[in-house]
Amino acid sequence: MQTVLTIGTVFYFCTMTNQDDQFKRVISHAKEYGYVFQSSEIYDGLSAVYDYAQNGAELKKNIRDYWWKAMVQMHDNIVGIDAAIFMHPTTWKASGHVDAFNDPLIDNKDSKKRYRADVLIEDYCAKIEAKIDKEVEKAAKRFGDAFDKEQFLATNQRVVEYQEKINATLSRMAKSLEKEDLADVKALIEELEIADPLTGSRNWTEVKQFNLMFGTKLGASAENAMDLYLRPETAQGIFVNFLNVQKTGRMKIPFGIAQVGKAFRNEIVARQFIFRMREFEQMEMQFFIKPGTQKEWFEHWKETRMKWHISLGLGTENYRFHDHEKLAHYADAATDIEFKFPFGFKELEGIHSRTDFDLKQHEEYSGKKLQYFDHEMNESYVPYVLETSIGLDRMFLAVFSNSLVEEELDNNTTRTVLKLPAVLAPVKAAVLPLVKKDGLPEIAKQIVDELKWDFNVDYDEKDAVGRRYRRQDANGTPFCITVDHDTLSDNTVTIRHRDTMEQKRVKIEELRDLIKQEVDVKTWLMKM
Ligand code: GAP
Repeated sequence: MQTVLTIGTVFYFCTMTNQDDQFKRVISHAKEYGYVFQSSEIYDGLSAVYDYAQNGAELKKNIRDYWWKAMVQMHDNIVGIDAAIFMHPTTWKASGHVDAFNDPLIDNKDSKKRYRADVLIEDYCAKIEAKIDKEVEKAAKRFGDAFDKEQFLATNQRVVEYQEKINATLSRMAKSLEKEDLADVKALIEELEIADPLTGSRNWTEVKQFNLMFGTKLGASAENAMDLYLRPETAQGIFVNFLNVQKTGRMKIPFGIAQVGKAFRNEIVARQFIFRMREFEQMEMQFFIKPGTQKEWFEHWKETRMKWHISLGLGTENYRFHDHEKLAHYADAATDIEFKFPFGFKELEGIHSRTDFDLKQHEEYSGKKLQYFDHEMNESYVPYVLETSIGLDRMFLAVFSNSLVEEELDNNTTRTVLKLPAVLAPVKAAVLPLVKKDGLPEIAKQIVDELKWDFNVDYDEKDAVGRRYRRQDANGTPFCITVDHDTLSDNTVTIRHRDTMEQKRVKIEELRDLIKQEVDVKTWLMKM
């Protein structure tokens, strides 16, 4: 079935699948419950730019805090900084972004639409992967408990052929991009008979490189203005401050510098909601190490970062590593932590062994030494760097899309629940007076006043209590606290758990500890 999806100001024709349905539900739920709005919507929006609404801003802040606590607060050798978005333009010459931060583009001559050539090829492979998933699903049904997925993937003739096709395609693309052989990238698109997803046309131009940085100007008059770039990654703000932080913080290698902040990229394939944005936020950490130790630190950070993800309980089966075949200009090893988004497994976080590339480049371009004196070795060297880099918006989408479920209930009805990890939920509890009279609202408001010192809490008195529960379920609120007539005599309330819908009678003074137990960062990070 053909349908039209509206994402930003762009319309996409696509084949209706369950994945598309789920993704559409995610986008509309995010809007309906005050999580994400299209930027400047009253002017028809700006493609790939989004605003976080009242609940979205809280969820985003909680994800940011969860990352910061795990990376900075819990590591005595990692500190955080907040560098400016504007940086001296030579930064980007030194980092290689001016010359090499490009995407390979291809235009369709009939539709006049522009695409990333590598994304067209990756999407082609994702379709084959979906076929593998279908085969696995069918076989799992057929064999029941006896089904061995690993064995099936290794031995089923059709699946093996699909996988070989994917491997050969991605490997050829990686090699061609590495060699800057753009003619071969186009040849690959033609050989695979990849068509424009909008129109089906295969009338393609040559593949060209396109720089992703946004330029701007600094200065009052046109003659004296300086050309600047909006930073395309936060990492460079850390590199240029490496020695300042090391000296003022008396940091000893190995140590890390973390940062959360905005980054800007003129993305060509600007779709998939907040997955690929033009203005987004990164949470990055550069870990400075002794040259030669990068392999062990690479493994260490792969494992540590994966544990952080798993601690949130979104399901181990939804993560996987994807080692890079094509390495960025600065890396000697790289892997992605991929997450199963509604449109398939995609990059969520990158872990890169960046060698001493960046610091050496900044030494060369600035003429300043960026070296560490190692007292144990009694020598100076340019440290190597291990980077962990995750998109905050992408993490938001991972958490939000994974949490949104439609549940069948025993009484043949359904409920929509946003099962956000309680530690990240924007509102931790809603306090509901059963009726709007008899002094119940006053008690409910007193409870709100008490709890709001520790948690973000909501007061809700409109509609029947059942409807209020549903509203809070869809909003992702982990607890509903109901004040009823018994409260007047025994000071107890009902506390209802969002996920189990279980209700318990508890004393008002027990509420704080009960909620804290389930939403406390410590409880969650201890799972790491
Ligand atoms: N400093 C390394 C670096 O920037 P990257 O793989 O280009 O590496 C790191 O980006 C992370 O930033 C990605 O894994 C992704 O989560 C996020 N990211 C990158 N581009 C993005 C975009 N256009 N929109 C949203 N998130 C993005």
